[in-house]
Amino acid sequence: MNEDARSSLFQSDSIAENYRHYLLPTVFEPWAHHLVDSLVLHAGQTVLDVASGTGAVARAAAKAVGPSGRVIASDISTGMLAEVSVGADPDGAPIETLEAPATAIPLEDDSVDVVLCQHGLPFVRDQVAAMAEMKRVLRPGGSLGIVVWVAALRLEPFDSYGDVLRDEGLDEPFPRAWDFDSFKMTRARLTKLLAAFEDVTVQSTSLRLDWPSVADAVNGIFGTPYGPVLTALMPEKQQHALSALRDWMTASPHPLVTAFVATASA
Ligand SMILES: C[S@@+](CC[C@H](N)C(=O)[O-])C[C@H]1O[C@@H](n2cnc3c(N)ncnc32)[C@H](O)[C@@H]1O
Repeated sequence: MNEDARSSLFQSDSIAENYRHYLLPTVFEPWAHHLVDSLVLHAGQTVLDVASGTGAVARAAAKAVGPSGRVIASDISTGMLAEVSVGADPDGAPIETLEAPATAIPLEDDSVDVVLCQHGLPFVRDQVAAMAEMKRVLRPGGSLGIVVWVAALRLEPFDSYGDVLRDEGLDEPFPRAWDFDSFKMTRARLTKLLAAFEDVTVQSTSLRLDWPSVADAVNGIFGTPYGPVLTALMPEKQQHALSALRDWMTASPHPLVTAFVATASA
């Protein structure tokens, strides 16, 4: 499996369903609302959500730009895009889905008012190319909003999911699976990626996870690329890992998670 394989980690339908069911309400929707609130969106605007996954940001943006607006949710995973319309506001903008890599977005130059990308960039191998695509499709003066997890800080529940599987003695199932900062970014890296944009702001923001139950926090692993790895384990190993996860989540049921929220204009 090479580095590009990180982009295809969300292809399985079971990951998409479990992601939407367990992770979206507690982990990703609060950030989507925070991101959309960090920018001034206007009725009738066209918004592109890059690496949209199951569409948390796309749906929040559709509400903000209203029925006269247009929202495009783009992602490399068919399975994740299939979940985008679930829970969309009937009074919001229609949401179109576009299956495309972040490095080759099939939209015209200067065709979008707002580009958003939440917790997607760490999965993209050529992040410089992805940022260039975002700039290309954004009209001059258009707005950009990016969210990425902050490097060097513990990130629950994902660090515990990885730790528990690594402690079972497994080989890395995908590139940098056990790397502490695998799905995070430094401020320096993010700032460098935003060099071609104007009016750049990068804020570090913390939100507390409010899981409905320990079981939801544990089952969230099935909505991540670690899910199929856990499912493939022998039953005793699987139970051992799940029990270790329950212990983790019971000890720290409402962890603080921290991300950079960057805004800029084209
Ligand atoms: C952690 S999810 C974040 C999804 C969503 N933005 C959210 O906040 O819920 C990462 C997403 O990035 C997508 N992705 C990974 N590599 C990609 C690439 N090269 N181009 C487009 N999307 C990609 C995955 O398919 C997955 O849906």
